[in-house]
Amino acid sequence: MYSKEDFGEGFRWGVSLAAYQVEGAHEADGRGLSIWDQFSNRKNRIKDGSNGNVACEFYYRYEEDIALAKSLNLSHFRFSISWTRILPDGIGEVNQLGLDFYNRLIDCCLRYDLEPWVTLYHWDLPQALEKQGGWTSRIVVNAFIKFADVCSKSFGDRVKNWIVMNEPSTFTGMGYLVGYYAPGRFGINNYLPAVHHATLCQAEGARMIRRNLPNATIGTSISCSYIAPSSENPKQIAAARRVDALLNRLHIEPILGMGYPIKDLPVLEQIEKYFHPYDEELIKFDFDFIGIQNYFSLVAYNNPLIPYLQAFVVPFKKLNRPLTSNGWEVHPEGMYRILKQFSAYPIKELIVTENGAAFHDRVEGNRVHDNQRLQYIQSYLGEVLRAKQEGVNIGGYFVWTLMDNFEWRAGFRSRFGLVYTDFVHQTRIIKDSGLWIKDFLK
Ligand code: BGC
Repeated sequence: MYSKEDFGEGFRWGVSLAAYQVEGAHEADGRGLSIWDQFSNRKNRIKDGSNGNVACEFYYRYEEDIALAKSLNLSHFRFSISWTRILPDGIGEVNQLGLDFYNRLIDCCLRYDLEPWVTLYHWDLPQALEKQGGWTSRIVVNAFIKFADVCSKSFGDRVKNWIVMNEPSTFTGMGYLVGYYAPGRFGINNYLPAVHHATLCQAEGARMIRRNLPNATIGTSISCSYIAPSSENPKQIAAARRVDALLNRLHIEPILGMGYPIKDLPVLEQIEKYFHPYDEELIKFDFDFIGIQNYFSLVAYNNPLIPYLQAFVVPFKKLNRPLTSNGWEVHPEGMYRILKQFSAYPIKELIVTENGAAFHDRVEGNRVHDNQRLQYIQSYLGEVLRAKQEGVNIGGYFVWTLMDNFEWRAGFRSRFGLVYTDFVHQTRIIKDSGLWIKDFLK
């Protein structure tokens, strides 16, 4: 078994959280509504009929939770800023009470000697902007630049680490192509402009932070999964390449000046309809790091009947691997492969900004023996180390997540935390996986 020291000095050990998933307090202190407030209050959208109105009450209990993170010997704490606490209508008037909350939160992190990592956008688009087209409309770009400006000016004296976006391919694909996440829209004519505006915002938001904070460390977080072809047949290999272009390369290659991966996924050609002059330049940015978010791997099958992609994917479960409670297969080697894949790009540093798993946790006495999560984290971390020892420049590992929280479409049934949340009494119990982290980082 490896030790913390094997990862080297200066390796960042942290946890990641997102505003809508933990904060609750949805009407407190002038917060505006986001697309997730709207979506989760629609019928049959969230599996257990829940919403994020209360969640973990992190808005009120943040100090307790920060103390918990500290007690696990973590040194980095990633959270996102709710856009509508700062700008309730997405643009226009700044809400001082919203700024006050994040000032308290940041100060609290620093008091506990946890380095704050701020994600600007973790999926909670202001509903006021959605009414004007949301990510499909170019208006989102100026609004996002303003949001980045306000946040970096307000918090940049204490926050050094910035993540512009969380998984643009997830929120555009799930929210605007298949309608499974907020705002529940679908179709290629929603999806492609949403993709392009998200790519633009990724770079434009970063540029604004850089302008205000020349010494900040700026990154963006990409969801990525190792995609295996279903066989070595050239048709299957080409299918895997199309899926890889869609799921892994869509938001990283434009940043690097390679453009969208149109060669491997011709339908993306239509995205050029949404370009304005100079967009090829504007979508580039020289990030200090790229956040890697990896959970599972997929197998791709060629299928001409599937529109645009002409392929479909299945989890590795076909290959009889263990699954998490939400049906994701446990495939630690996929982490290694994806880190190697991304290390071929000219990226300064990779940081694993999310990795973790949901299982059916049970409280026994005052303990949660989440052995499967423990094994999951240990095995994935082992693969991070393997890649690092082979020379991949990996600067940190953040577990998703500190405590069980509102898991989007799955509601509160999908538990990802190192800490168990009792949502009725708002109590927390450190799970065995959390206790292992504590001991490992000691
Ligand atoms: C997201 C998190 C989410 C996690 C587990 C990531 O894609 O960034 O918000 O909770 O996966 O589904």
